[in-house]
Amino acid sequence: MNHNVTFMPQGKTITVRHGVSILEAARKAGIHIATRCGGKMGCLMCKVTLPEEQQKNLLPPKEGERRKLGSLLEKGTRLSCQSMVQHDVIVLIPEDPLKAAVRKQLEAARNRDNEDFI
Ligand code: FES
Repeated sequence: MNHNVTFMPQGKTITVRHGVSILEAARKAGIHIATRCGGKMGCLMCKVTLPEEQQKNLLPPKEGERRKLGSLLEKGTRLSCQSMVQHDVIVLIPEDPLKAAVRKQLEAARNRDNEDFI
């Protein structure tokens, strides 16, 4: 059985077999998810987020993932390397922390420039 996985904000959808991990699906789709451990649940860098109504579309987290994520699970965070597809699903890829920091600094500088003109 196949399922569609849609990655946001990229808006890219890919079809994968039942039980494929989100990390594998992302790689197949050409979507970058940072990892350091290669999917062995050692780095915790591969976090993705699911809207509440999407969480049932992945197989439930196993004990190891529950332990690693703790309360983040309740906020919809999953480890993409441990999250297996069981229905069509929409996954949110968090912004790279370095890019987010640069974007915030640029926005702050832009706002300062606008204030100088007023
Ligand atoms: S890839 Fe390292 S924890 Fe998922």
